[in-house]
This record gives sequence, structure tokens and C-alpha cells, in this order.
Amino acid sequence: MKPTTTPKTYRVKSFGCQMNVYDGERMGELLEAQGITPAPEGEDADLVVLNTCHIREKATEKVYSDIGRLVKAGEEAGRKPMIAVAGCVAQAEGEEIMARAPAVGMVVGPQAYHRLGDMVKDAAAGRRSTDTDMPEDAKFAALPARRKVAASAFLTVQEGCDKFCTYCVVPYTRGAEISRPYSDLLREAEKLVEAGARELTLLGQNVNAWSGADDKGRVVGFDGLIRALAELPGLHRIRYTTSHPNDMTDGLIAAHGEIAKLMPYLHLPVQSGSDRVLKAMNRSHTAESYLKLLDRFRAVRPDIALSGDFIVGFPGETEAEFAETLALVNEVKYAAAFSFKYSPRPGTPAASMDGQIAPEVMDERLQRLQAALNRHQLAFNEASVGKTCTVLIERKGKHPGQWLGKSPWLQSVFFEGDCAMGDLVEVELVQAGPNSLAGQLVTKVPA
Ligand code: 5AD
Ligand code: SF4
Repeated sequence: MKPTTTPKTYRVKSFGCQMNVYDGERMGELLEAQGITPAPEGEDADLVVLNTCHIREKATEKVYSDIGRLVKAGEEAGRKPMIAVAGCVAQAEGEEIMARAPAVGMVVGPQAYHRLGDMVKDAAAGRRSTDTDMPEDAKFAALPARRKVAASAFLTVQEGCDKFCTYCVVPYTRGAEISRPYSDLLREAEKLVEAGARELTLLGQNVNAWSGADDKGRVVGFDGLIRALAELPGLHRIRYTTSHPNDMTDGLIAAHGEIAKLMPYLHLPVQSGSDRVLKAMNRSHTAESYLKLLDRFRAVRPDIALSGDFIVGFPGETEAEFAETLALVNEVKYAAAFSFKYSPRPGTPAASMDGQIAPEVMDERLQRLQAALNRHQLAFNEASVGKTCTVLIERKGKHPGQWLGKSPWLQSVFFEGDCAMGDLVEVELVQAGPNSLAGQLVTKVPA
């Protein structure tokens, strides 16, 4: 690549999970600390960071087509954008990207992006660079302080995964499980609240595997961290995602019954309702142990909304096994869910298993599963009509005077009123749709 000048503007395009959204925000902060500003809406940026996702197929192809589009747009405008590929595709296929896409100046993995600033300087001097190292927890210490944030902000508390589900690339792209230190997290949470956050969503690939030592040196689990964060004045809501059934502790379940700031919502992926499939996935829980776990949450928090992840068409999945997934879904009655067709990922054990399922069969199963999940989601929303609940305002709606916020159960709620972003207001839910509810403002909750 020819020497480029130092970029003045940037854009980060994040794909995939919420951890990528968090990483994208932090990369933005890092670039801004170097005087590079966000490109105005609708204008091309001098530096584009493609913050990629590798969890399902076509991710890599999408990266190459995005790169192609950026190069073409640059040629048409007579400029050469600086392109960085970050995220999990960068981690998994960094060398290939460098070889195949000369327009890419930087490849930076999810554990190395604190080095992005130096890499931009290198790229400006015409030197391409790759950093996919995984130094333990070096990144967070090297990042600049948090800037102004939205009313609902993310806080990564744990990264990586040691579970090695046989279909999943995460243990390879994000590395081993690490927990960020307790004191760092409390400090970052305080800063986020000072910067305007009223709700924090604690993020981790296995967030409930978090553990650390508190300020007195006592070992605490994830519930201990939540209890400490709940003491922060100005912080009104705490959420967390994603949990693994095997890391659920008695303390965390109890916390749902005891801590009012901990929202009544649990995203707990199950993937399949068939014990044979779960075993082949290396999930190390059964459908029954999962259901029993949910019962324990319901016992302490009867109104808890449940959400899950599902994979259809895992190698060898029979129609009868798929029917077990449908039966589980109909028993749990999820308030929300994410469902996917199995996608063979290079290097994972499931990719070379016998009995890969034909695409048409996967399509058909996914449709049936999603029809059931959608039915339950709508039913959950309809059952909320008539309730009055607190809504945290996250953004303006499409119409003048309209606002969009989230209920405690993570439902999107539209309503009108004399309010402001970040307000917590009491809203009566009056009408339900599959993906949102309409509400009427009752009162503003005193901050
Ligand atoms: N194919 C399809 N879905 C997958 N997921 C992870 N790996 C794969 C794969 N290879 C899904 C799981 C996980 C969610 C984040 O993505 O359901 O919980
Ligand atoms: Fe992937 Fe399983 Fe780890 Fe989740 S628990 S990130 S699905 S390996």
C-alpha cells in the first residue's frame, strides 16, 4: 500500500455480538484520543475499521466484499481510505486477509486493539501491520478513559471461553476465559455512570463465570460483582449477557430475588432440546437440568423474562431430536430468542462430523422453530398489556414527541410525552406487537 496521510476522520462498523459493539466503542475512544474524529453521517471516513464477526458463515466473504466496496467508493471519490480489519475474522484469518486484500493496512485481533493507535501511525507511514496476540488483560489497562456514553451502556467484565462447544469458534478467536479485575470494573462503572449511563449491561462470552477478589481481598463470584455495582448511586439498572448454564451459582440465582436493580431478564442459551445433540455439542447440560435451572430463577423472580439461543441442523440432528427442541421451546415460552442454522466453522470438531444436514432441511426447521418462538414472544408482549412499568428512554421515536425505551423485561416501548433521553419514566403498556409495545406516559420517576 502506498503511504497514506494520517487520517482525520474514522468510522467503526461493528458486526455480530454486543462484545463487538463494546470493542467498537472503545476503539472509537482510542482513535479520538489521537485526535481522529468520527466521520459525519453520510460522509466517507479516512479510516474505516471493520470490526468483524466469525461466528457463522459468510462472515469472511462479507469482509472481502466490504473491503471491495470501500476501495471502489474511494476510487470514485479519488481517495484511498485506510482500512483496518478488527474482530474475530481478523483473529482467525488475519494473514490471509493481508495476503488477499492489499487495501487493508491493519489487521488487529480482539485482544490487541489497544495497539490500534500505533498501527494507524504505521499505516500512515506506509507500513502494514498485523497484531493478533492475546496478552492477558493488557488491553483494558492501555485504553483511554470512557467518554460520554448512552443511558444504557455496555461493560465488558469477562472475555473468552473455555467451554469448547463443538460447533463454536469463540474459544479460538477470543481465547481462554479471563475475568477483568473487580476494582477496574467498579472504577469503569463509576466513570460510565458519571458519563451518563443509568443502566449497565455486563458483557462476557461466559459472563457468569466471572470471579475476582474484592477490595478486601475476598474471592467473589459474579453475584458479588453485581451486588457491589448495585451500590453505585446513579446506576438504576443492571443486566448481563451471555451466561452458560454450567456456571450458574446459587448466589447469582439468589441475587435475582434480592437486588431490585438487577432486571428481571435472563438470556440463557440452551442450543437444543435433545440430550443426544447437547452431548454431541459438548454442552455438558441436559434439557432437564436446564429446565430445572430456569425453575429456580422463576422461584425467586416469578416475573423473569427468559431468552435463549438455538441452533437447528447440528450434524446428525434427526426430526425427532428437532421436535425435542420445539417441545422445550413450548415449555419455556421464551420472551425473546435468537435462532440459527448450524454453520460449519473451519477447525471446529463439529465441522468434520458425519451427518451434516442438508440446507433445505435446516431452512424448514428454522422456520418452524422461529414460528414457535415468535408466537411465544408475541404472547409474552400481549400478557404485558395493562401493566405499568418503568421505562428507560434510549432514543427518540420516528414521530415528533415520541420516545423509545426499554421495559424491565427488555421490551422496546414507544410512547409520547415531555421527556428527555435517559429519563426513567412510568409507562402503562397499552398495545402489543411482536417486537415492541405502545405505552402511555404515567409519571416521571424522580432520578
Ligand atoms: N453455527 C450456528 N450458530 C452458532 N452459534 C455459535 N456457533 C455457531 C455455529 N457454528 C450460535 C449459538 C451461540 C450464538 C452466539 O451463536 O447459538 O449461543
Ligand atoms: Fe461458544 Fe459454547 Fe463458549 Fe458459548 S459457551 S462462546 S457457544 S464455546
